[in-house]
Amino acid sequence: MGKIMPGERFPVLKKKLSPESYCALASIANPKVWAFVADCIQLCQPDETWVSTDSPEDIARSRQEAIRVKEEIPLSIPGHTVHFDGPEDQGRDREVTRYLVPKGEKLSPALNQIEREKGLKEIRELLAGSMKGRTMIVRFLTLGPKNSVFSLPCLECTDSYYVSHSLNLLYRPGYDEFRRLGSQARFFATLHSAGKLNELAVSAEPGKKRIYIDYLTDTVYSVNTQYAGNTVGLKKLALRLTIRRADQEGWLAEHMFLMAVHGPQGRKTYLAGAFPSACGKTSTAMLPGEKILGDDIAYFRPIKGQCRAVNAEAGIFGIIQNVNPVDDPLIWKVLTNPGEIIFSNVLVKDGRPYWLGMGIEPPEDGVNFSGKWFRGKKDAQGKEIPFAHKNARYTVSLKALDNCDEALDQPEGVDLSGIIYGGRDSHAWFPCQQSFDWSHGIVAYGASLETETTFAIIGQEGIQEINLMSIQDFVSIPLGKYVRNNLEFGKKLVRPPLIFAVNYFLRDEDGKFVNGLRDKHIWIKWMERRIHGEMRARRTPTGFIPCFEDLVKLFKEILKKDYTSDDYRKQFSLRVPENLAKLDRVEKFHRQEVEDAPPEIFQILQEQRKRLLEARRLYGDRVTPDSFPVVTE
Ligand code: GTP
Ligand code: MN
Repeated sequence: MGKIMPGERFPVLKKKLSPESYCALASIANPKVWAFVADCIQLCQPDETWVSTDSPEDIARSRQEAIRVKEEIPLSIPGHTVHFDGPEDQGRDREVTRYLVPKGEKLSPALNQIEREKGLKEIRELLAGSMKGRTMIVRFLTLGPKNSVFSLPCLECTDSYYVSHSLNLLYRPGYDEFRRLGSQARFFATLHSAGKLNELAVSAEPGKKRIYIDYLTDTVYSVNTQYAGNTVGLKKLALRLTIRRADQEGWLAEHMFLMAVHGPQGRKTYLAGAFPSACGKTSTAMLPGEKILGDDIAYFRPIKGQCRAVNAEAGIFGIIQNVNPVDDPLIWKVLTNPGEIIFSNVLVKDGRPYWLGMGIEPPEDGVNFSGKWFRGKKDAQGKEIPFAHKNARYTVSLKALDNCDEALDQPEGVDLSGIIYGGRDSHAWFPCQQSFDWSHGIVAYGASLETETTFAIIGQEGIQEINLMSIQDFVSIPLGKYVRNNLEFGKKLVRPPLIFAVNYFLRDEDGKFVNGLRDKHIWIKWMERRIHGEMRARRTPTGFIPCFEDLVKLFKEILKKDYTSDDYRKQFSLRVPENLAKLDRVEKFHRQEVEDAPPEIFQILQEQRKRLLEARRLYGDRVTPDSFPVVTE
């Protein structure tokens, strides 16, 4: 039998692709790939279709073209560009991000969903002819390292060179992987179109923005948006599909950073952390002196009794607000030196980017996400437009960082020893604590994670909500099943990672944060030593907390700061009513919103309640840390 060529099955490919691009596509022997590309062409009708092969010329081309079509503007420092998203396209849009659910199936009520046939019809109508006058770019990538049990092949078709350029920086190239796998590749596919653009090269019809996820075919559709969180299919959109795959295959896909923390004598310990958006993942993973592997999405597999972990991604799409030379010296250095970086939604004046909280006075005018900007400029509602958006970001490859860990692309991943859950909680949780065991950590920290909503998601800010494992928006299987998978996962491991909780956002009675931005480094170091049995702790009703003497030493050693007993009392006094109120909210959530909640959840919460009530009986509403016994376990 002769080799089948894509053009025989899909004549449109022969007709619409240049000879080079046709050839590039033909050497991937996977008719499903051809079918997807053909469908995208027929539906969106681009003038041209370009298949990128990841050759150095092709990699460079996405950036050059993004500049040529003005989706990006070069800045003064070599390698730097800026991209703007429209005023109504400044964050992930939950409202219009929906799962396509086949008739007769149901997802958790907490998940935004639409009947599949109806949703498909709607989004395909919005995509019809959307690429006329433009080029469609076909990209092959992998999630997770290449040549690894972790790798997941991905395909994205987009009419945005900015999106394609971002893919270069954020993921591992996968063209060769697709060629190697041929028809074996079970890939995730994304079709994205920015839709109609205005004179600023910005999506002009935000009211028609839709992001639909079809888990039946592992496909994501995105239209009338450019914000990377809505358009780079491999980010949170593919995470939703990955969670289903992981559920079928018995591993975990998590919304977590991954880092190496240094201990005494050059020891390296790997930690992962789940924090909702804008709660400190990137700032933690970029702590000076430590090594970063990832700041957003991690995969865990049980391998020979160990928890092996990889970063799904290879770059950072990070929040730039408050990045300043004092609090984030490493990020600051990267952002102010030559190298390939895309800034988004900052203010630009004379080729220089300005963002909120950078510690430099911004100019009186410039260009930002609203177009030409000047101090006092108002939006359509009469609200003053800030010079830069709170959710302004930077995109950079991890390899460009001095502190990138060598194990980033290791096919077997790294041996994970600790997991951290953290949210924005003004009132209840300690700044740092350790769970009694795996199940307690999963339930009382992970499945109890609460946060106050932030600017990273469109909508009202400062509302308290449960965000289970910081991944709730992305869980595409029943939530109870997801928690159960986490509980089960620990049982597959010889020595499961220790589980910790942090709260960088605890406030005192006057509303002031009780910790400084760099204090997180102390908690991380404490965890590293706990993992190796080198720190004692005090046993409280909600977990183990650090002992005062150890913190004094660590603050001195790491931050050259004197830590006082007043600090300790302020930060580590147990707030009983606040923790009980939280338990009430968590329990109610699991009873009402989580179908199939494992009974273990309620049992563990119930035990925690008993311990809290007992503490209140003995000591009252505020319990100073020295009331709790020191343990060596
Ligand atoms: P995504 O990239 O959206 O997933 O967010 P992230 O979890 O990576 O959050 P990031 O580390 O970028 O921090 C978000 C915001 O929280 C920034 O504005 C930080 O300045 C602020 N922040 C980080 N750490 C601390 C802290 O220890 N205390 C306080 N008060 N703010 C912090
Ligand atoms: Mn981040």
